Amino acid sequence: MTVPALRAMKARGERITMITAYDATFARMLDEGGADALLVGDSLGMVIQGLDSTLPVTVDEVVYHCRAVSRGTQHAHIVGDMPFMSYQGGVDDALRNAGRFLKEGGAHAVKLEGGAEIAEKIARIVAAGIPVMGHVGLTPQSVHAMGGFRVQGRTEEAAELVLSEALAVAAAGAYAIVLEGIPSDLAARITAALDIPTIGIGAGPACDGQVLVSYDLLGLTADLRPKFVKRYDEWFTRGIDAAQRFCAEVRSGAFPSAEYAFGDVKRSDDVQAGAVPVVQAVGYGPRG
Ligand code: KIV
Repeated sequence: MTVPALRAMKARGERITMITAYDATFARMLDEGGADALLVGDSLGMVIQGLDSTLPVTVDEVVYHCRAVSRGTQHAHIVGDMPFMSYQGGVDDALRNAGRFLKEGGAHAVKLEGGAEIAEKIARIVAAGIPVMGHVGLTPQSVHAMGGFRVQGRTEEAAELVLSEALAVAAAGAYAIVLEGIPSDLAARITAALDIPTIGIGAGPACDGQVLVSYDLLGLTADLRPKFVKRYDEWFTRGIDAAQRFCAEVRSGAFPSAEYAFGDVKRSDDVQAGAVPVVQAVGYGPRG
């Protein structure tokens, strides 16, 4: 999946699917599940690291997770999320950091939060051949400036501001833009105004695509239930159940049964006579 292919999907009216991924196994699963794009989000700070915001996440950390995701991915377009303060400083700093996601992380593009104030950086990164996905509306890296994780663009004036941010990001050369936490009619207006795809999260059905955090989608975030999240499974509950069954079987001696063991030491006479195989693959990989 490439940048032109994603843009062509908008032109054809086909919905784009993006899911966050942070490791090779999830990447492989979500890729096989048909995600067009995998976002290595700075949300990893909250779902992987247990932080209460994305602010402490570093470039090194996101690049590390990008590397893992790129190893697990065959088809999907991989977007690396630039964390707080990796692009808010100078243009050169932003460009150098953006390059790391492609050179070291194996990502195909980077995502930056913000509007006109980062337009110059977007233009410079794009000019270096690095595709940029924008992100406006509720921008979690500005949690303190917003006074919390709140829906943005709810008044006419605030809606005009979000629209102008989206237009600035598109004019700077972004190939797609995330619209987060805004009213559905505003997302519809922005989607109609832009010729680049809009990918919504808490932005209603009119966007050109949708993104969810994989841990939310799978029901792994035990305590968080944002209104816009649809949980397609309940892995947290199912994981507790699996752990309980494992613990009970170990305690009772039911696990490991003979089926899960390598049997007994082979007798030398049998080995010398070639009657029993000595080499047995454990099953960790193609060559055992
Ligand atoms: O970090 C992230 O997961 C994101 C998505 C919520 C769009 O930015």
